Amino acid sequence: MDRWTLALDPGDEPMFLRIARSIARDIGRGRLKPGAPLPGSRTFAETLGVHRNTVLAAYRELEAEGYTESLPARQTRVRADLPPRPPRRTSGGPSPDPDRVGFSLTPVPVDVVASPPPAGSIALLGGLPDLRELPTKALARAYRRAANRRGAPLFGYGDPRGEEALRRALASVLASARGLSIDHEDILVTRGSQMALFLAARALLSPGDVVLVEALGYRPAWEALRAAGAVLEPVPVDRGGISVAAVRARCERGGVRAVYVTPHHQYPTTVLLSSARRLELLGIAKEHRIAVLEDDYDHEFHYDGRPVLPLKSADQAGSVVYFGTLSKILAPALRLGFLIGPRPLLARATAHRAIVDRQGDRVLEHALADFIEEGSLLRHARRMRRLYQVRRGALVSALEAHLASRVVFTLPVGGMAVWAELPGIDVDDWAARCEQRGVVFQTARRFTFDGKKRPFVRLGFAGETEARIHRAVELMARALR
Ligand SMILES: Cc1ncc(COP(=O)(O)O)c(C=O)c1O
Repeated sequence: MDRWTLALDPGDEPMFLRIARSIARDIGRGRLKPGAPLPGSRTFAETLGVHRNTVLAAYRELEAEGYTESLPARQTRVRADLPPRPPRRTSGGPSPDPDRVGFSLTPVPVDVVASPPPAGSIALLGGLPDLRELPTKALARAYRRAANRRGAPLFGYGDPRGEEALRRALASVLASARGLSIDHEDILVTRGSQMALFLAARALLSPGDVVLVEALGYRPAWEALRAAGAVLEPVPVDRGGISVAAVRARCERGGVRAVYVTPHHQYPTTVLLSSARRLELLGIAKEHRIAVLEDDYDHEFHYDGRPVLPLKSADQAGSVVYFGTLSKILAPALRLGFLIGPRPLLARATAHRAIVDRQGDRVLEHALADFIEEGSLLRHARRMRRLYQVRRGALVSALEAHLASRVVFTLPVGGMAVWAELPGIDVDDWAARCEQRGVVFQTARRFTFDGKKRPFVRLGFAGETEARIHRAVELMARALR
């Protein structure tokens, strides 16, 4: 006992609590063993330079918390029956090290959440709609109307597939705008298409199943597939989209379960999958009984001619599992996506959904059902398409004016970004210099399967005004000199 001295923990709480907490810490660390006597209150108060009542209060606190016990003749000692570590921690107990793990963990999946661009920068990010244009008042009105009209029952448990009203509204808009012959029983509403892909992968795949992916491609989708145990194999992408010849060659070797594609505007290169390749891909899927996971994330933003109908619209064999989202057409934070596929797959995906999330936001789903039914969704999409088309023009003319000798690109038929090559340039270095000047964009490395550099960049035009796009490209040109 003689050798024990108390090092007081720093803190703002009353002195008696600091003393009690510090003693409890020493008990927890084994510096004070079960049964060890604590110093007499008078001597201890002198040593600590505090009033004796303070020490007595600390002892009372320790006893109340089960660390110590009183003996006759006002002796206090650490409880003899205390396990080496105290059984419970209270407000005054020792703080556990929050980084300490008392068990083993599995490897972490790759974190796919990109850090937000620095405040004030011009963000040429290909996936972001211009949220300043979002009809927030109309959305808020729709939300309030939904809550008022349906009242308290809407705040209970609902259908894990999503509210029927929204599934009906989506089925009807997808039938007319995207040529899908479906009804509300063919849709599972999810929180974003990322969740839809995750659930479909769970429903479809077993650990070790081979899934072919576009490379370059969309990493969050890869990680959702991997999370279900998929072994991914990259397939090259060229000006006609994914190489369907390579898909066929790989399928003929056997063992492929699925192929993940972005046929409308290939992510990240923006190219449209040619109609010959579309037909061939559906044929391969049918012949080899593989699933085609079709991610149609920005269907409405097609500028030259009408949008090309999804693979799903021509799927007779039940091979295509289709994913959509309101993240681009409206806003990512709504977390509103959907999955369309053969009903047995939907039933399995729904079961997985109920385990992880039970259901979506019922009020929001009714609000969006109204928003779609009154025509507001497609109206907003049409307005955004016109705006983005003008911005696409602004980006292209800025690139031609300031970077013509350095960049090679073709006008994207749709989407929200230009995919550009800068031969012979270390684009990652360049992007870092641009960021210092206040312009942010993504380089090919983010989309490569092997994580290696390529001299390409993805320049988004949807989220910034024409003036800011011009300014950004001027700054980018300066950073290249
Ligand atoms: C290729 C692709 N798929 C899907 C999404 C949409 O994801 P979510 O609906 O989960 O917001 C995005 C958005 O960035 C995307 O780029």
